[in-house]
Amino acid sequence: MTTTLADVLPSLGYAAPPRFHPAVWPLTTHSDEEGRLCIGDVPLTDIADEFRTPTYVIDEADFRYRARRYRTALRDAEIVYAGKSLLTVAVARWAREEGLAVDVCSAGELAIALVAGVEPGRIVMHGNAKSHDELRAAVRVGVGRVVLDSCIEIAYLAGLADRPQRVLIRVTPDIDIHGHRAVTTGTTDQKFGFTLDGPQTADAVARVLAQPNLRLIGLHCHIGSQVTDPAHYGEAIRRMIAVMADIRARHGVILTELNIGGGHGIPYLAGGPELDIDELAHVIDDALDVACAVERFPRPLIVVEPGRAISARAGVTLYQVCSVKSRPGGPTFVAVDGGMSDNPRVSLYGAKYTVALANRHSLGERRRVTVVGRHCEAGDEIARNVELPADVHPGDLLAVACTGAYHHSMASNYNMVGRPPLIAVADGRARELVRRETVADLLSRDRG
Ligand code: LLP
Repeated sequence: MTTTLADVLPSLGYAAPPRFHPAVWPLTTHSDEEGRLCIGDVPLTDIADEFRTPTYVIDEADFRYRARRYRTALRDAEIVYAGKSLLTVAVARWAREEGLAVDVCSAGELAIALVAGVEPGRIVMHGNAKSHDELRAAVRVGVGRVVLDSCIEIAYLAGLADRPQRVLIRVTPDIDIHGHRAVTTGTTDQKFGFTLDGPQTADAVARVLAQPNLRLIGLHCHIGSQVTDPAHYGEAIRRMIAVMADIRARHGVILTELNIGGGHGIPYLAGGPELDIDELAHVIDDALDVACAVERFPRPLIVVEPGRAISARAGVTLYQVCSVKSRPGGPTFVAVDGGMSDNPRVSLYGAKYTVALANRHSLGERRRVTVVGRHCEAGDEIARNVELPADVHPGDLLAVACTGAYHHSMASNYNMVGRPPLIAVADGRARELVRRETVADLLSRDRG
């Protein structure tokens, strides 16, 4: 029998949960002797002093660690970082330096990846409605792969390519991961890709193969977001290999690449489910073994496109408390200086977040509150019914965990509020990656 620390110190079993649970807070999170929340060895109070609030903070070490974990867990696969989750020049550079390729889905994201020095051959171009101009930009810089999503794109790209352009065709494998529309993208009844239930996919394949300058190298599918059961990816692989075998039978072409998309689930609250990427590696391997044996098909290169699983936990949002309102028997509202303009995910998806007091540690009583934003809308909430110290008051700083993905990238100017800056922290230093948007920035677009 092995003796664990909990056997020797039974009180461990009853220990209070950590103040900053490692499942949701960045890798380098700790509390200093003054009780201040620190990330990358920088107290967040210093960030608030220098850059004001609201501010996105990103832990470079956490981002790099997640990227590296993918490379070691999925050794035989190519890892493509989904830039839509969070992309700035520095972030694209981190991905590149960690050996990841980058997926972009607009001319803007493409430009950022290029400025960051991502080799064009390691860029994957996505989008269900790419414009002719975007496709032209992709061809001009020589992006490695374009994922085709519609017939018109095939025609545009064939006309634009003046040398062989490697392409994949996006297919919907009809896998319903949660029965939830907003996050399920691999089913037949939505806008992405070509379906398998009719002639659409076969027709797209024939069209691409007929174009001398389009080189069809593989298929792509993306089954949705926040997938926590790796078996769904196994099922996707089995279905997609069958399609690849069918393409071989019809056209005598062997596709060598299978991109199974991203959507790897992460917890936003401690104890929430998460996709285990070591398990995913096994599932991929087993599914390939079985499907390739059944179809006598050579193993394709597997490509995965995680975004959130690399960028979400690296980020926190820092807010200042503006007001606290309560009435007997009613809810307590803690209003902060940001809201749905920097975090639209609560009103869009009903997302739940972990919130902590960042400027001090309070050992006193705690109470349940709803953290609300500053926008003119009742649904402008950050977190409902969360526990905070009862003495939380205007001027306090709150940090919200797991805001690295789809926050900076989805921020808006609602109520003409400037978007927050993005500050990277590492080894005791804070570096401004994106500056705050000012009223002058906003006015500069308004032609009067
Ligand atoms: N590949 C493709 C083709 C995708 O469409 C997406 C996400 C990804 C990869 C990366 O998915 P991830 O690993 O980050 O889950 N705004 C929503 C998420 C939309 C995801 C769209 N596509 C949210 O805030 O939850």
